[in-house]
Amino acid sequence: MDGKIERLHQLKQRSQEGGGPERVAKQKAQGKMTARERIDLLLDNGSFREIDAFVVHREHNFGMEEKQFLGDSVITGWGTIDGRLIYVFSQDFTVFGGSLGGVHAEKVVKIMDMAMRNGAPVIGINDSGGARIQEGVVSLGGYADIFLRNTLASGVVPQISAIMGPCAGGAVYSPALTDFIIMVKKSSYMFITGPDVVKTVTGEEVTFEELGGAVTHNTESGVAHMAAESEADALYLIRELMSYLPSNNMEDPPFVPTKDDPLRTEAALDAIIPNNPNKPYDIKDIIHLIVDDGKFYEIQEMYAPNIVIGFARLGGFSVGIVANQPMVLAGVLDINASEKAGRFVRFCDAFNIPLIVFEDVPGFLPGVDQEYGGIIRHGAKLLYAFCEATVPKITVVTRKAYGGAYCVMNSKHIRADLNLAWPSAEIAVMGPDGAVNIIFRRELAAAEDPVAKKAELVEHYREQFANPYTAAKQGYVDDVIEPHETRPRLINALNMLQNKRDQNPPKKHGNMPL
Ligand code: HXC
Repeated sequence: MDGKIERLHQLKQRSQEGGGPERVAKQKAQGKMTARERIDLLLDNGSFREIDAFVVHREHNFGMEEKQFLGDSVITGWGTIDGRLIYVFSQDFTVFGGSLGGVHAEKVVKIMDMAMRNGAPVIGINDSGGARIQEGVVSLGGYADIFLRNTLASGVVPQISAIMGPCAGGAVYSPALTDFIIMVKKSSYMFITGPDVVKTVTGEEVTFEELGGAVTHNTESGVAHMAAESEADALYLIRELMSYLPSNNMEDPPFVPTKDDPLRTEAALDAIIPNNPNKPYDIKDIIHLIVDDGKFYEIQEMYAPNIVIGFARLGGFSVGIVANQPMVLAGVLDINASEKAGRFVRFCDAFNIPLIVFEDVPGFLPGVDQEYGGIIRHGAKLLYAFCEATVPKITVVTRKAYGGAYCVMNSKHIRADLNLAWPSAEIAVMGPDGAVNIIFRRELAAAEDPVAKKAELVEHYREQFANPYTAAKQGYVDDVIEPHETRPRLINALNMLQNKRDQNPPKKHGNMPL
């Protein structure tokens, strides 16, 4: 063994150096961590096991054989988060700008294949100049190899993408195929074509940050799910996210025993719905009061805020929450809200995470923009997602459940397991105002005092239909409960549904309205 172990040490040391001290210093000067530092912060202390640290590229053109870096431009391997196995790749911008060539792709593909075989999540840390220009079509092929794995792994193991630098061109489609994208404010960007190309093609002048920064993708496009303040914050958010997810689609999500009493009632809930049905309230206050320790992990907080989605725990069970938000656009369903919630519902269903729906929805958003934008098609995505889901599904109608939105928001008819309503619920074809205008048009036209007549009719309609009891009479609502008992009732329901078995008819796959 004379000298052989020494040689191994030297090679390992070289592979740790990335693109060398100067490039590492440049990376740091930009306030960015190195690819290795990111992995170390993401995973449990000392748990990372690297593979393919000796791999080098095979390119000979452009003098590339002179430029070899052990491990090439990506670090791959596995480790643990809270003791659970995770596969990880972290692109190293200090080596060829983190660009993706043939061996870079092979390394990523290798751990993705292992993750699928061994049933563990894949976390990708992206910081790359895109396709390695010197390798040409080999790079493109490498991307396509990864896209295929992303697609095959979808719904099998959770896939999470952190964007910590550039992610441009076709490279964006790997993160786009994963379940969650976390971007770092001011130091990451994603776009199909950068500001220069945009200016040439459309004449628009736009900065990197405006075109594809974290805030843009969290507010405008809905491409990203979270905007972190820093790289460390992003990695912490990923660790926290993992705590709600199973390792694969054959497992249940982790059960975390809680000191928060499952029988805890919450008197404040009895007074939370305003007397005036048109007055807003914050649905997040309700969520916080009900879930374990008031802890709610919100997803896509800044996008389509008229619907709220995220993870929480109830009696230790991980749950996915979908809730209309009366504070924004009165909680209507529009194109963005339908897509946002539809994708989330499908994620939860794929990974055995029960769905809890808090419903207060006046209907779908009317308007030319929405119709031309395809609200019919996009709204159908949410409908499809709820219909298709076979995980335990529970709905609590806090106030309005009107029209088509009533059907869509996890109604009994589309296989919800338990539909509860608060006494403040109004479940009907439409709100009193609109309904009276239509069904009493003639009476209103003939009335001496149309305003007084309308008020009278609206009141009558409200009494007759704007309540939970007409639906309860039909069995469409299983029970009307007092708001303060919502938490114990939900936990009881989750226990009751623990062994739920339901499935969809055998098929290759459905054809959801994309
Ligand atoms: C090879 C690359 C590279 C690339 C950067 N580098 N991008 N090498 N292929 N795509 C190298 C640089 O030569 C440099 O090497 C080092 O990485 C750092 O790059 P800088 O330009 O000095 O860094 P910076 O100023 O921070 O600018 C970063 C950047 C810029 C904005 C990402 O490098 C850039 O614009 N790169 C090209 C991006 C691009 O057009 N990629 C192709 C997109 S199309 P040295 O040796 O000096 O350190 C695509 C298609 C994918 O990706 C399709 C999939 C289907």
